[in-house]
Amino acid sequence: MPSFLHCFILFCSAVLTQSIITPSLAKTSSFKPKALVLQVAKDASTLQYLTTIKQRTPLVPIKLTIALGGLSLWVDCEKGYISSTYKPAHCGSSQCKLAESKSCTTECFSSPKPGCYNNTCDIVPDNPLAAVLSGGGQLGQDVVSLLSTDGSNPGRVVSTPNLLFSCGHRSLLNGLANGVKGMAGLGRSKVGIPSQIASAFRFQRKFALCLSSSTRSNGAIFFGGGPYVLLPGIDISKLLTFTKLILNPVSTAGSYFMGDPSTDYFVEVKSIKINGKVVSFNSTSLLNIDTEGYGGTKISTLKPYTVLETSIYKAVINAFVKQLSRIPRVKPVAPFGACFNSTSIGSTRVGAAVPHIDLVLSKGVQWRFYGANSMVQVSKDALCLGFVDGGVRPRTSVVIGGHQLEDNLLQFDLANKRLGFSSSLLFRQTTCANFNFTSTS
Ligand SMILES: *[C@@H]1O[C@H](CO)[C@@H](O)[C@H](O)[C@H]1NC(C)=O
Ligand SMILES: *[C@@H]1O[C@H](CO)[C@@H](O)[C@H](O)[C@H]1NC(C)=O
Ligand SMILES: *[C@@H]1O[C@H](CO)[C@@H](O)[C@H](O)[C@H]1NC(C)=O
Ligand SMILES: *[C@@H]1O[C@H](CO)[C@@H](O)[C@H](O)[C@H]1NC(C)=O
Repeated sequence: MPSFLHCFILFCSAVLTQSIITPSLAKTSSFKPKALVLQVAKDASTLQYLTTIKQRTPLVPIKLTIALGGLSLWVDCEKGYISSTYKPAHCGSSQCKLAESKSCTTECFSSPKPGCYNNTCDIVPDNPLAAVLSGGGQLGQDVVSLLSTDGSNPGRVVSTPNLLFSCGHRSLLNGLANGVKGMAGLGRSKVGIPSQIASAFRFQRKFALCLSSSTRSNGAIFFGGGPYVLLPGIDISKLLTFTKLILNPVSTAGSYFMGDPSTDYFVEVKSIKINGKVVSFNSTSLLNIDTEGYGGTKISTLKPYTVLETSIYKAVINAFVKQLSRIPRVKPVAPFGACFNSTSIGSTRVGAAVPHIDLVLSKGVQWRFYGANSMVQVSKDALCLGFVDGGVRPRTSVVIGGHQLEDNLLQFDLANKRLGFSSSLLFRQTTCANFNFTSTS
């Protein structure tokens, strides 16, 4: 990967800048939305979380896979990108500076089209699920239209004329769900969708992710500081526990430029408890991020289940099995390592009646996972612990995946570098599928 990055940079005249100028992204119209909302579906075959935005002139719906830690929005521009409002970002422009672009395509050997203009800067569109490395993709801007909300219902459609994104190659769509045309990067970068929307609409630099556990009902992403009201009228923004977000100084993307920091959201997990007892494992230093950017704990919407470094995984599985020793085990079903006969397990409002799992974060704050988030029903009578083995020396030791995030509302506060989490909404007798998408007008 690093060698690829070197040769990619050789083709380009490096554009390095210190000062960041924020381009004006929105022409302010008379209507000032308080927040925006996107619907999020769970794809049954890939377990990816998908959303649809409208982009271009005339507007076209574009289906995207959500990449919580992704640098920015990227779409496939190779096929059928037709828009009268597309604008390439010229090398040295404020847009390229905002994106901290490190490369410039001086000449594109084709007729001009989105993704192929002369003198245009590049960023790296990244799909960690594709088996291919990404080259650079040209940075451009176009109109995006989105649904506003007061936090309780959707309001009118609003648009921003200049949302920055990059053009990826067709092959980068490998591994993405059917019909998907790119990825919605919500990462901690100035060109991440949340930062751009916050500056375009003058929102607080906050967004909230609420993933539905069902493939038949949609969850939501809110841009803005709240309220986030789920039926029957509960404002989840008032129910959050906070922990700090950590910066990993080394990129954790599949493809990136040397020196880029990670745009993933890392939290500081200090220990893991099962039924209140600390799980001991050999190398607690795996929970820290080392100088090469290895280790630590991040949150990912691209992993369907939480992935643990092997020694942590084994310790967690063993501790959980010990706590649940009264329940007969059944043959494990891949990718899981510990499965139980569910006919012997009771159920509660927050899922299967199993020992709770806590991630102990900095300052002793705990993020608790109950049966609905820890267990996966794999057959009529088998329930498995929904954690998977990440192997030895993975890039990141703990990757908190989709199943563990569902029906939890997570608020990412970019300005204050903190994460707010609700824990299971099932306790509040609501779910992430309970935003009232019925319009009031
Ligand atoms: C780039 O510039 C070259 C030389 O001026 C020109 O031949 C070519 O058509 C241009 N390409 C694009 C994509 O604008
Ligand atoms: C912990 O480390 C010791 C010594 O290196 C090793 O023998 C043991 O298998 C390790 N335990 C686990 C759970 O990895
Ligand atoms: C689970 O337990 C029930 C009741 O004892 C039994 O009939 C069933 O065969 C068990 N299932 C498995 C997969 O072992
Ligand atoms: C959803 O919102 C609409 C519009 O405000 C309202 O008429 C409807 O009663 C709401 N649904 C529920 C279940 O409260």
